Amino acid sequence: MIKNDLFLRALKGETVERPPVWMMRQAGRYLPEFMEIKKEYDFFTRCQTPDLASEITVQPIRRYGMDAAILFSDILVIPQAMNIEVQMKPDFGPYLPNPIRNQKDVDAVIVPDVNVALDYVMQAIKATKEKLNDEIPLIGFAGSPWTILCYCVQGQGSKTFDKAKELCFTQPVVAHQLLQKITDTTIAYLKAKVKAGVNAVQVFDSWGGMLSPTDYTEFSWKYIQQIIDALKDETPVIVFGKGCWFALGDMAKSGASALGVDWTCSARNARYLTGGNITLQGNFDPARLLSPPQDIKRMVTQMINEFGKDKYVVNLGHGILPNVPVDNARAFIDAVKEYKS
Ligand code: CP3
Repeated sequence: MIKNDLFLRALKGETVERPPVWMMRQAGRYLPEFMEIKKEYDFFTRCQTPDLASEITVQPIRRYGMDAAILFSDILVIPQAMNIEVQMKPDFGPYLPNPIRNQKDVDAVIVPDVNVALDYVMQAIKATKEKLNDEIPLIGFAGSPWTILCYCVQGQGSKTFDKAKELCFTQPVVAHQLLQKITDTTIAYLKAKVKAGVNAVQVFDSWGGMLSPTDYTEFSWKYIQQIIDALKDETPVIVFGKGCWFALGDMAKSGASALGVDWTCSARNARYLTGGNITLQGNFDPARLLSPPQDIKRMVTQMINEFGKDKYVVNLGHGILPNVPVDNARAFIDAVKEYKS
């Protein structure tokens, strides 16, 4: 049993003393202790070495005492396991030298045995669970099939993901085959993560907001719903769609335990769109962590009052930025722990 189960109780919608708190991308570049490890080992070595991945996962917990840990890894380990080369270039980000552009490319993509290809992730989960000693829950994650397709087709990050959209709009059959292969791999992967010990999973649809509401239904939501259907009886599922406020109504009926909200959607609108009954997670503007600590604390208290302390998980509206001072991140976490209703 987990000693601090605030996060799991909030996902069930139970009444809590205060809402739980964690930060998207909390294991990362704003932490000096992370940068020490980064100096010595390249990105995928950090992901693939259970000792390193588990150490990086618990670094923010040791420093701040969040109510949940999220495994250090990346959403792009999935295409890598599917036979698509993925590099992480310093100061550039993900680079896929052979992007998927046609039927032949999709035919060469495999649905791997995740227990073999991604065994290192399962070992990292086991090592992390030992370090966490049942103090707090561990979150596992995957990218949404659409967000993974974005990288596989574009070949790198993008402001528009125009090539990814072009494949969907000119060769929809090919695009759907790729999305289904990614979905099948992701379902097997998340199930294996649950078996290895994670206590909840989050699906990151970081680029869902690139699509129109109609295209979102066809190219993203359809596949996220398959993932929820396959996982929801085994573990709580959180769906975070950046820029996807328009889909919150459908998401609320999906069987997900909680929905992520970004900072462009007010608490009031998110509660309205979701019918007021599902747990919401978010939505502090990550750049607001650059404000002075006393301002951060005031704004966090106000945010909790707006969402309400129940059916709520305090988080950022997207990943933490690398240039956030460590004391500002502390002010964010402390404000939640000091919250009095
Ligand atoms: O909380 C955590 O830190 C858990 C680990 C985590 C990472 N990536 C580590 C990482 C998580 C949850 C992710 C998810 C991820 N990766 C997403 C979805 C979340 C989001 O922010 O939208 C996406 C889109 C990616 C793809 C990705 N990985 C990009 C675009 C980049 C380069 C830009 C960047 O943020 O650095 C990465 C690299 C990456 N993944 C780093 C880390 C700590 C930084 C590179 C490094 O450490 O060498």
